[in-house]
This record gives sequence, C-alpha cells and structure tokens, in this order.
Amino acid sequence: MKNNVILEKLMFKTPRLHFIKLQQECAGKTILITGASSGIGEQLAYLLAETDCRLILVARRAEKLSMMKAEIEAMAAKVEIFSADLRVDLELDAFLDFVHRLGTLDFVVSNAGKSIHRPIFHSLGRDQDFTRTMAINYFAPVRLVMSLLPLLKQSGGHVVNVSTINALMTPMPHWAAYQASKSAFDAWFRSAAPELNSNGIAASTVYLPLVRTPMIEPTAAYRKVPAMEARQAARLISSMLYSKKRTWRPWWLWPVQAASIFTHQLPERRN
Ligand SMILES: NC(=O)c1ccc[n+]([C@@H]2O[C@H](COP(=O)([O-])OP(=O)(O)OC[C@H]3O[C@@H](n4cnc5c(N)ncnc54)[C@H](OP(=O)(O)O)[C@@H]3O)[C@@H](O)[C@H]2O)c1
Repeated sequence: MKNNVILEKLMFKTPRLHFIKLQQECAGKTILITGASSGIGEQLAYLLAETDCRLILVARRAEKLSMMKAEIEAMAAKVEIFSADLRVDLELDAFLDFVHRLGTLDFVVSNAGKSIHRPIFHSLGRDQDFTRTMAINYFAPVRLVMSLLPLLKQSGGHVVNVSTINALMTPMPHWAAYQASKSAFDAWFRSAAPELNSNGIAASTVYLPLVRTPMIEPTAAYRKVPAMEARQAARLISSMLYSKKRTWRPWWLWPVQAASIFTHQLPERRN
C-alpha cells in the first residue's frame, strides 16, 4: 500500500493549473461536457463551475444532474443540464437540437464513455459488448462533433477528446471491446483534427492512464494498481482549454509502450 502511494506520487504529479488563465479563457464561453454525472466529467464540471462560463452538462442520470445544477448555481458559472442516452439516436438528436437552440458553443469536452473488461470467450453470444461500446465511445461522439462543427467554426472553438493511453499501446487481452471503440474515435479524431484546425477549431486529446472513478470499480485487479485521481484528470483537461496543446500523455508512457510491444509479441509469435 505504501509502495502504491509512492508510485502514485511519482507517476501522477498533480497537474499545474493556472486558474487566472483558465478564468480568462472561459469567461463568457459555453462549455459542453458529455458524461458529466460521474468521475472525470463530474470533477471537471465542478472545477469549471468556479469560472464565469456557461456549462452544458449531459448524461443519462437526470437526478444526479439536477443535484449538480443546484450546487453549481451557487458557484460562478451558469449551467444547463440535459438527460439523454447518447447511444439512442432520438435522444442524441433531441440533445443536439437543445444545444443548437442555445446558439453558441465554444468548447466540447467529449468525455462520456463506457469500458468493458471481459475475456473474449466470455463475450460469446454477447454482441452487445461490442455494439454498446462502439455506440457510446465511437458513434455518439462522431455524431455529436459533426453536428456541432458549424457552431464551433463560428466561435473559433475547441474540442477535447478524453481518450486513454490504451489507444497508443499494443492492445491488451480482455479489453477488446473498449480498446477497439476508444481507438476508433482516436483515429477518427486524429484524421479530422487538421481539417478542424484549418477551419479555426482547436483539437486536443488527453491520453489518460488509469483514473480512480466508478468506471474502474468493477475490475477487482485495478483496486491495488496505482491510479490518477479524477480531480487530477479534471485539472489536466482544464489546462488544455487555455494551453490548446494538441495532446497530453503521461511522462512514463514511452517505456511502457516499449515494454508492451515486447511482452505482447511473445504470445503473438507462438501462433
Ligand atoms: N477511469 C479510467 O481509468 C479512464 C482511463 C482513461 C480514459 N478514461 C475515459 O474517461 C472518460 C470518463 O470516464 P470515467 O472514468 O469518469 O467514468 P465514469 O465515472 O463511469 O463516467 C462515465 C460518464 O459517461 C456517462 N455515460 C456513459 N454512458 C452514457 C450514455 N449512453 N449516454 C450518456 N452518457 C453516458 C455517464 O453518465 P450516466 O451513467 O449518468 O449516463 C458518466 O457521466 C471515458 O471516456 C473513459 O473512457 C477513463
């Protein structure tokens, strides 16, 4: 346990956040956060609520969003909430109509997501493992960003993709559904980014390591593994809003990438 604390301090230094720059960047701006009802999205909403912005928060859990709205209304930001399952076309359309009716949009933080940790042979007859992850981790953000591009072009806006280091590593067993869907959006976003940039829209990707949120709770193996805190991830994402950096990844990723190539090549060579 003590070792974990030391490792976490080394691996996940609390990211520096220049609050004045953040406040200047966000003042009077409209910021959409998908998946704002829990984990990283929730922490980000509360952090940005300290600035003079207008937040649009979307997720399925209406009650949780209402509770957050009541708290945020006592802070600096204005807030709009919308409950929608972004995998369901009609609900996504209704949400997008709502955003278009608001009329302006400066930032989109594409954060809503679902992970599944399951061996392939336990997914037999469970097509939903693959269709559901693709629906929320790939098709929903593609449709959302595509619909909002005209508003973002008008404002010279910025899209931040909340991704995972797994998209940059050799794929790991038991994570096929999650990794394939997150990698699909990562590839789509990297391909779209130059076109967004040439239309005055900034594009950033945050490649997060393991973050301690409700998403990882069902995976027993992760309870003892060093992880970043959700509020640290929120600070990181916030700093991207003013720095406009194209990517963020942990400093220790390259040796891990090298090790993952080596360790995964061995079983692959035996086939
Ligand atoms: N935790 C990690 O270790 C980790 C690491 C790297 C990257 N990430 C990425 O970080 C992002 C946030 O994850 P988290 O760890 O904060 O997980 P989390 O606590 O489970 O939060 C996920 C959020 O997405 C929303 N969401 C899920 N399915 C949805 C749907 N169908 N429609 C609308 N909203 C939906 C959830 O809200 P409702 O349930 O209310 O709908 C919730 O607000 C994800 O994209 C994830 O891939 C996480």
